[in-house]
Amino acid sequence: MKQYDITTTVRVYDMDELSSEDQQLVYAAKNATKSSYAPYSHFCVGAAVRLADGLVITGSNQENAAFPSGLCAERTALFAANSQHPDTPVVALAVAAFTQGHFLSEPIPPCGACRQVIMEVEDRYQQPIRIILYGTSGIHVVETVKALLPLYFVGAKMK
Ligand code: THU
Repeated sequence: MKQYDITTTVRVYDMDELSSEDQQLVYAAKNATKSSYAPYSHFCVGAAVRLADGLVITGSNQENAAFPSGLCAERTALFAANSQHPDTPVVALAVAAFTQGHFLSEPIPPCGACRQVIMEVEDRYQQPIRIILYGTSGIHVVETVKALLPLYFVGAKMK
C-alpha cells in the first residue's frame, strides 16, 4: 500500500487586508445577492468574476420549481462571463451568501458542480482563478480551484 497526502492552503483575511480590486469584487458579489431568484430556499447567493482586463461580471442563483433546473450563482456568473467575453480569461471569483436578513458569518464554499465548472474555466484559459469567499467573520481565499478539488478531472485526462 502506498499513500499520498494532499494539503490545501486557505488564507483568511479581514476586508481591509484585501487588495482594492479584490474588495471591489467582494462588494460586487454582495450586491449581486440582490438579484438572486430564490423563492424556494430563500438563500440568496451572489458571485462576481473579474476578467484579465479588469472587467467584473456578476451572477446570482436562479431557482426553479423543477429544482435541478436552477443554477448556482457561481455558474451563472462564469457562464455569463465566458459567453460574453470568450477570449478573456477569468482571474478571480468572489462569492457571498445572504439569508434571513444578513450575510453569513462563515463563508459558503462552491458546491461540487460549481468546482468542476471553475476547473474547466481554469483549464480552458490555463489561468488559476483566485476564489474569494465572503463571510462576516472572515474572507477565505484560495489561489486556485485545485485547492478545493485536488483530484480533478479535465479534458486532458481522457487522452
Ligand atoms: N447555491 C449557490 O448559488 N452557490 C453555492 O455555492 C451553494 C448553493 C444556491 C443554490 C440554491 O439556489 C441555493 O443556494 C440553496 O442551495
